[in-house]
Amino acid sequence: MTVFATEHKSAPRYLDVAANTHGQEKGYLVLKALEQVKTQRPHVVEIGPGGGAAVSFLASALSGNQHGAGPVDLTLIEAPGVTSHALPRAVSEFNEVGTCELAHGFA
Ligand SMILES: C[S@@+](CC[C@H](N)C(=O)[O-])C[C@H]1O[C@@H](n2cnc3c(N)ncnc32)[C@H](O)[C@@H]1O
Repeated sequence: MTVFATEHKSAPRYLDVAANTHGQEKGYLVLKALEQVKTQRPHVVEIGPGGGAAVSFLASALSGNQHGAGPVDLTLIEAPGVTSHALPRAVSEFNEVGTCELAHGFA
């Protein structure tokens, strides 16, 4: 079995800085999909939120309901033992436009 590099993945300079950019690129297609779904309360799942760049982007894009989507429920699934210092802030931002829950497990 392959060993998951939990310690390296959790290093703040990797997860919270190096890998925590381009949220717009990462979240763009989700935003487009949300514009198309007819569900009143869509539920989105992100596998591997890392430092939350995409979560932050979506929170910002969905605020003010500019994209026609109502509240959105977001579930984040992060590998066990991987922790980010930046993610809690992104989760708080998302909780302003819906709900955001973090679960740990391998997808
Ligand atoms: C480069 S980061 C992702 C960044 C994030 N999606 C963003 O928008 O900034 C990759 C993340 O996926 C997680 N990951 C990798 N394989 C995974 C798996 N099988 N299940 C859950 N999370 C996983 C890693 O721990 C890491 O946090």
